[in-house]
Amino acid sequence: MLRVSDLRAFIAGLPKAELHIHIEGSLEPELMFELAGRNGIELPYDSVEAIRAAYEFSNLQDFLDIYYAGAGVLQTEQDFHDMTWAYLLRAREDAVRHTELFFDPQTHTDRGIAFEVALAGIDSALQRAKTEFGITSRLILCFLRHLSAEAAMATLEQALPHREKIVAVGLDSSELGHPPEKFQAVFDRARAEGFLTVAHAGEEGPPDYIWQALDLLKVERIDHGVRCMEDDALVERLVAAGTPLTVCPLSNVKLRVFDTIEDHNLAHLLARGLKATVNSDDPSYFGGYLNRNFEAVAEGLDLDRDALITLAKNSFEAAFLPAAMKAAYLAEVDAYAAED
Ligand code: ADE
Ligand code: ZN
Repeated sequence: MLRVSDLRAFIAGLPKAELHIHIEGSLEPELMFELAGRNGIELPYDSVEAIRAAYEFSNLQDFLDIYYAGAGVLQTEQDFHDMTWAYLLRAREDAVRHTELFFDPQTHTDRGIAFEVALAGIDSALQRAKTEFGITSRLILCFLRHLSAEAAMATLEQALPHREKIVAVGLDSSELGHPPEKFQAVFDRARAEGFLTVAHAGEEGPPDYIWQALDLLKVERIDHGVRCMEDDALVERLVAAGTPLTVCPLSNVKLRVFDTIEDHNLAHLLARGLKATVNSDDPSYFGGYLNRNFEAVAEGLDLDRDALITLAKNSFEAAFLPAAMKAAYLAEVDAYAAED
């Protein structure tokens, strides 16, 4: 067993991919304040500390209400660029070599911000990070599931001219009461147009929502998925198909999916042979970027070095990357493990 300081050092340099990060959830209070000032927007808080103090939530809906309000400061392409760039700088510090970001276009188009404004700002930051420090990336468009299927279809149509910039579509926002089946036609169309698919399922929602995501939306990965453990047949299905789960430990504790990190089921997911990965979800709101999530599970669940290597490898295996790039990243993990 590694000592805590050695474990942290090992995590710090471990090459990894992040596969579940809402870019709007990386908006730190400092930047929120700056963008509000730049755009002449009045925030209901008079300091950065007051914003942070308002991050009091204990379920998904309470969090989402604050998160959508925070995104209101994003107005221009430069704002989206600056937010994404700040995340990428932070990701680089955490030895993130590849990242797959969610963005929520409806959060912006419903406020009168054009789809293209958000996309161009995010995409230019991703290209800059590739050029300046070699982080590779993919972008995933998420539909807000509390809105209608028709609104999701209209959003998909806005994305069609930009297909080369968006690898997949996903489903996020309020899970309970908005089952995957509501979006079957949209996902059918997205797949026909060449997009891969993912969906948040089994975060607050029941295992049945995970079945629906697999059977009706034909997803490649399940985002969260931790409630799969309530259904043995579902676990068998996920293991047999090698379907990855993008697990977000600190998020799950903050939103009381688990009471404490010690209660998190990540170690059980791995023990059952599920391809679990570790991710930050909304790092500005949930208390940490990727390495903080790795540290939390390593310490809270007594994960050893081999488990951390498995998690890093799972992240690259589950990525939407060509086989040769996956192999190169996996070789980086092996080289790091051999030298450390
Ligand atoms: N949007 C941002 N973070 C989310 C989460 N954890 N679940 C559902 N929707 C989200
Ligand atoms: Zn999420």
